[in-house]
Amino acid sequence: MGMDKPPTLILGIETSCDETAAAVVAEGRVVLSNVVASQAELHAPYGGVFPELASRQHVRDIVPVIQEALAEAGVDFDDLAAVAVTHGPGLAGSLLVGVNAAKGICLGTGLPLIGVNHMAGHLYSHWLHDSGVLRTPTSRPDWTKLRPAVAAATAASAASAASDAPWPSDPPFPLLLLTVSGGHTELALVRGHGDLTLLGQTLDDAAGEAFDKAARMLGLGYPGGPAIQEAADRLAVAVARPVASPDEARPTPPFPVADTPQPLDFSFSGLKTAMLRRVEAARASGQEPDVSALAAGFQSAVVKALVGRTRRALERHPEVRAVLLAGGVAANGPLRTALAAAASRPVLVPPLALCTDNAAMIAAAGHFAWAAGRRDGLDLDVVAGLGW
Ligand code: KG4
Ligand code: ZN
Repeated sequence: MGMDKPPTLILGIETSCDETAAAVVAEGRVVLSNVVASQAELHAPYGGVFPELASRQHVRDIVPVIQEALAEAGVDFDDLAAVAVTHGPGLAGSLLVGVNAAKGICLGTGLPLIGVNHMAGHLYSHWLHDSGVLRTPTSRPDWTKLRPAVAAATAASAASAASDAPWPSDPPFPLLLLTVSGGHTELALVRGHGDLTLLGQTLDDAAGEAFDKAARMLGLGYPGGPAIQEAADRLAVAVARPVASPDEARPTPPFPVADTPQPLDFSFSGLKTAMLRRVEAARASGQEPDVSALAAGFQSAVVKALVGRTRRALERHPEVRAVLLAGGVAANGPLRTALAAAASRPVLVPPLALCTDNAAMIAAAGHFAWAAGRRDGLDLDVVAGLGW
């Protein structure tokens, strides 16, 4: 390619929950391939992830998914600098499949192994560029767009090696990270790579988990977040205008936003109970619950809780330069809008395909660990309850 130093390529592997994913990322930023085999349909009948089915499906999918990620990026193991794999937090039986696959590759090729915290993956989804190769599982990658992406990674890598200049669009530190996924709801202050302080977290359910449980009560599908958002959107259509809050559209009893002893913590279990009561009350009076109104009420309460805590955190930390939204719930439209309106700082949201679980973000997190000299041994363990 006519350059002194080829870009550092990392293979990322992710199997912590119900997506089997592999990706190749250049310089921790440019996505060369991003393959995700979702198990959502498999788990839909259960309204949540069925752990045993998940690990069995990972076993079936892991090898073809890794092969596809390498093929799409047009690289071999020889081209890679390291293999990064999620080793926690997540379902132990699922994590094991990815970790063992990564170990096998490293044993066979001599490549270094880097264990990645899934939550760090969500953070580093913000370093990734959608260079046109991101795709939905039904479309094929555009090879003509892949070449410039590699060239850009190469140029940027050469430039930063020459001048120590940071990548032009890396998020600025210090930053406030709001991670909202199926397993986590956390606010953290990040001062630099590997320098993170947890400011608050959920005391009970995670935001995504609350969406999933509420959706199940309303008879909507799994995953529940997109289903709730769609049902709430139908309410806006029914009243023929966008609605900021459900009360404005059709009377629905408001959902409570719980207070917590620590002002930056979250609690969503009360919302879940409130939803159950509303659904039962409707049925007791011989009616079907008003699904879109309840979905809209529930969604706006979750959004209010998330935005309220974020505002408080910003008041306490005026030095914060940007708010980073991460995790599957970051796909939620009303959350993005409300946060952008309330935050008084730039609010950064990754491309949709990088909000939910994927391996590109694991490769990106692995890149920065690799650059800092981190290497793991073949005795790397899965840690289901891994913290920060
Ligand atoms: O990060 P993620 O893909 O997996 C975990 O690490 O948990 O997050 C999945 C969660 C699910 O609970 C799903 O319902 C939620 O993200 N989610 C959404 C939306 N899309 C996905 N929640 C609200 N609105 C959405 N549009
Ligand atoms: Zn996740």
